[in-house]
Amino acid sequence: MERGAVLAFLWLATVGLLQEEHKQRIGFCSWKCLKFVQMWPGSFCVALGPRFDCVIPADADHWTIHGLWPSNIMNCCSCWPLFPSDLADLSKQLAEHWPTFLNASSFKFWREEWQKHGTCAGCLEAFSSPSKYFGAALALRTPYNVDRAFQRAGIIPSCNHSYQLHTLQEALVPIMGQEQELQCVTDGQARQVLVQLKVSLFSNFSAGCLEEGAQEFSPYRPCHSQSRIFYFPLNPKNPRQPCP
Ligand SMILES: *[C@@H]1O[C@H](CO)[C@@H](O)[C@H](O)[C@H]1NC(C)=O
Ligand SMILES: *[C@@H]1O[C@H](CO)[C@@H](O)[C@H](O)[C@H]1NC(C)=O
Ligand SMILES: *[C@@H]1O[C@H](CO)[C@@H](O)[C@H](O)[C@H]1NC(C)=O
Repeated sequence: MERGAVLAFLWLATVGLLQEEHKQRIGFCSWKCLKFVQMWPGSFCVALGPRFDCVIPADADHWTIHGLWPSNIMNCCSCWPLFPSDLADLSKQLAEHWPTFLNASSFKFWREEWQKHGTCAGCLEAFSSPSKYFGAALALRTPYNVDRAFQRAGIIPSCNHSYQLHTLQEALVPIMGQEQELQCVTDGQARQVLVQLKVSLFSNFSAGCLEEGAQEFSPYRPCHSQSRIFYFPLNPKNPRQPCP
């Protein structure tokens, strides 16, 4: 090899090693499972702190996306900023299916999700740009459609009727298997209220991924089977107390 070629080769090899070392140092690709997290707008504000404004758009009458989270890892890279133009093609779908309920701009929510979780997913080709990452999450609503699974099982939002945990779980098993977690909050009347659903996916998007010692980042608790579970209807006029 010519000297120039050797130098170029050494330079490229060094850059490659440095990039690899950087990725390993921050654990970029260390995750095995992804959590696809969907939330129920009807109860999002039930346990929301008073310092947050809560606004539920009337058309958010379906389960919405909270995020797509590589497990056990957060905030991988502040070096990859997100701009509105990155999501221009998806913004209509995102506004419908991935809205914020905090009376803030939805873009701010998407940017936080990208910063916290998306940048850690980017080492997989399927997520290697913001539009791929957000597009992949939107696409997951089809196989993991909670609204349809509940409707098929006759599980409908109600202030009067409550459900057993196993009834809700059984409705979801056909589409997402056993490895799902329903999360609840407790309202002012000590009712257990369904608010969020997490399904754990392999990087090929199949459900059922299990990871030992996985850390959870969530203000919500797993719903428990000792008391019945309320699935509150949407009440945009009184979202903190949809069922007084
Ligand atoms: C939402 O924010 C606007 C502007 O800051 C404010 O005027 C309005 O009262 C807020 N709405 C709620 C429900 O907090
Ligand atoms: C709850 O019950 C009341 C009275 O029985 C009924 O009028 C109301 O429509 C019910 N609400 C829901 C959300 O099922
Ligand atoms: C997805 O990946 C998991 C784990 O590698 C594997 O067990 C499963 O068969 C794969 N599913 C599909 C549909 O390829």
